Amino acid sequence: MKEARYLTFALSKGRLAYQTLDLLEQIGITCEEIKDKSSRKLIFVNEERKLRFFLAKGPDVPTYVEHGAADIGVAGKDVLMEENRRVYEVLDLQLGKCRMCVCGPASAAELLKHHQMIRVASKYPSIAKDYFYNKKHQTVDIIKLNGSVELGPIVELSDVIVDIVETGGTLRENGLEVLEDICPLSARMIVNQVSMQMDFDRIRRIINDLRTVLKIGT
Ligand code: PRP
Repeated sequence: MKEARYLTFALSKGRLAYQTLDLLEQIGITCEEIKDKSSRKLIFVNEERKLRFFLAKGPDVPTYVEHGAADIGVAGKDVLMEENRRVYEVLDLQLGKCRMCVCGPASAAELLKHHQMIRVASKYPSIAKDYFYNKKHQTVDIIKLNGSVELGPIVELSDVIVDIVETGGTLRENGLEVLEDICPLSARMIVNQVSMQMDFDRIRRIINDLRTVLKIGT
């Protein structure tokens, strides 16, 4: 069957993009030129399958998909929760598994028990706000950082942090620990809401093939 238009994928630059491409290769979707890690090119085409791929900063992936600049995107659940975009989240790709946690020095555990006003540093202010305000009913002062969030409690910018924990190595090396678990995280496939209607068969086929590879029951 002749595929009518290009289906565009937005991938999160970095390790997740390559893991996603490995997974797509298992369902016969390939793009050779994107694998050249030394290339600075941002957009790649598979003419035969009428597919396009581009690499974007993780937090921008849901933006491209919401606006229809990409039909399909792959982004971490952390990004999806923080950005809260109008997209369909269709599949847990089970890549990049980690956890969103409240972390700090062991001494900060007490501060979380008594609904005290505390300072929380995070790259994820919306997730932190939702957790403390809506789940714990604790009023907190949220301080937005853009990275190396573990510094927060060390230099006394904050009492605790809300951040991703994967191996726990960064916490250990900085004398911090997990104080509370917020939720598990992994990479998700998202789809533009209009594309889902327009290209339903093609997108459904991709989702079903991935479900088979990932051994997810229907
Ligand atoms: C992430 C996260 C933690 C670290 C957790 O940071 O914010 O700092 O990884 O991983 P670990 O539990 O395996 O040590 P990232 O590497 O994305 O850099 P950043 O500090 O600039 O956000």
